[in-house]
Amino acid sequence: MQENVIPHNFSVDREMRSSIKGHGSFLLWFTGLSGSGKSTIANAVEKELVNRGIHTYILDGDNVRKGLNNNLSFSPEDRKENIRRIAEVANLMVDAGLVTLAAFVSPYKKDRENIKQILGADRYVEIFVNTPIEECERRDVKGLYAKARAGEIKDFTGVHAPYEAPVSPDVEIDTTQVSVAQAVETVVKHIENKLKIDE
Ligand code: ADX
Repeated sequence: MQENVIPHNFSVDREMRSSIKGHGSFLLWFTGLSGSGKSTIANAVEKELVNRGIHTYILDGDNVRKGLNNNLSFSPEDRKENIRRIAEVANLMVDAGLVTLAAFVSPYKKDRENIKQILGADRYVEIFVNTPIEECERRDVKGLYAKARAGEIKDFTGVHAPYEAPVSPDVEIDTTQVSVAQAVETVVKHIENKLKIDE
């Protein structure tokens, strides 16, 4: 089926879109347990980038699992497909010249490696929001850990489904040790060079 899909050569490319915007484009991928603080930190990073005049977009469970991926469950196969589709959408956004932020549990190492494949290593920044399960469960902002322990949610990450922690993420944030503001500073510092346009 794919062999008859022949890409058209469009005249405007990522570099041209980037040069209008005045900054590079890439994907910031936040991975970590449910309730670890991924969306909170991603939101604060986006705010800081927008304040600096950077063009951004943010993808997270709320705007993706309720729309594009509303037919997917939390089985390993569906999580794989969830992450694959998000990576493809993010790739288009990066091609459009946006600094794209994505906050998903993404518990499987293989699925995260696939994102890197899709984007290319230099356009993928992996940020591990490393909050211990005990702390996520203590916070239980959405009340989901209590439901999972009561058997009302199956396949819940950290309770009955695994989380394969990144071994060498680009950035690691321990939210029990640093504030949101400090986390933002660390992430922004890490991407300062990437924001410059490649001449
Ligand atoms: S992922 O594993 O496929 O990357 P994703 O980030 O899209 O997960 O969605 C995770 C969010 O969905 C959690 O933060 C939580 O709010 C909710 N959720 C509902 N059921 C589950 C479950 N079984 N495991 C993990 N998260 C769940």
